[in-house]
Amino acid sequence: MAQQPDQELGQVLVVIPTYNERDNIGKIVKRLHTAVPEVHVLVVDDGSPDGTGQLADEMAAADDRIHVMHRTEKAGLGAAYVAGFQWALDRGYGVICEMDADGSHAPEQLHRLLDALPQADLVIGSRWVPGGEVVNWPAQRKVLSLGGSLYSRLALGANVRDMTGGYRAFRADTLRKLNLASVASAGYCFQIDLLWRTIELGFRVREVPITFQEREFGESKMSGNIVREALVRVTKWGLRRRGTQLKELFGGKKK
Ligand code: GDD
Ligand code: MN
Repeated sequence: MAQQPDQELGQVLVVIPTYNERDNIGKIVKRLHTAVPEVHVLVVDDGSPDGTGQLADEMAAADDRIHVMHRTEKAGLGAAYVAGFQWALDRGYGVICEMDADGSHAPEQLHRLLDALPQADLVIGSRWVPGGEVVNWPAQRKVLSLGGSLYSRLALGANVRDMTGGYRAFRADTLRKLNLASVASAGYCFQIDLLWRTIELGFRVREVPITFQEREFGESKMSGNIVREALVRVTKWGLRRRGTQLKELFGGKKK
C-alpha cells in the first residue's frame, strides 16, 4: 500500500459528489493528486446530463487511484454521500473524506484535515473559525451559512462553528457507527445530520480553518428546497433533544 499521511489510520479515500461538473472534475482531481498523490478518489455522479460521468470514467480508466459510481438520477448530496461512504466501508478504506467538485475546497489544504485526524474522529474544514475564510461568496450565501450554523448550533447545543461545511475527514470507524442506512436527509442538511449523529455518539469533532473559494465554473445546486429541508429537520432534532432533556430532568430517567 502507498505511503499514508498517517499509517495508523489506513488508506484515504476522497468522495466527490458530482452533478454537472464537467468543467471542474478533471481539474480538481488533478490538483488533489498533485497535493496528496497517495489518496484514492471516488466520484459519485448522479447521471449528469453534461457528461461528467463519462469524463470521470475516462479518468478512472487511466488511473488506478480513481473510481466512479454512477447513480441513475439526481437524488441529492446526502444520498450520493451515503452510497459513496457505504462503497468505501465495504472496501476497507481507513479514512473517508468529503470534498466538493467545484474547487471551493482546496485540495492543497486537505493535509490540514488529515493532520488533525489522529486527535479526532471527525475533522471539519471550517470557514468560521479563526484563520478560516470565504472568498468571492455572495453576501446572501454568507448570511445563510452563518445563520444556518448559528441556528443549528443553538437548536442542537453543538459547539461547532461550521455546521454545514462540506470539507470533512472521517475515520471509517466513526462512519461505521452512524447508522448510514437510516440517513434520510437528501440535501445539504445531510452535513448537519451526520455531524449531529457524530456528536450524539460522543465522538471527538475538531474544526481546522480552510479558505472556501466560490466556484468559477458551473452552478451551485443550492435551492429553496434544500434550505427548507434543513430548517424543518434541525428544528425537529432540536425539539427532540429538548424533550429528552426534560424527561431526564423530571423523570430522572436516562435516555
Ligand atoms: N451526486 C450529486 N447529487 N452531487 C451533488 C448533488 C446531487 O444531487 N447536489 C450537489 N452535488 C455536488 C456538486 O456537484 C458539488 O460537487 C458539491 O455537491 C457541492 O454542491 P454546490 O452546489 O457547489 O454547493 P454549494 O457551493 O452551493 O454549497 C457548499 O456549501 C454548503 C453550505 O455550507 C457545499 O460545500 C455544501 O456541501 C455545503 O453544505
Ligand atoms: Mn459549490
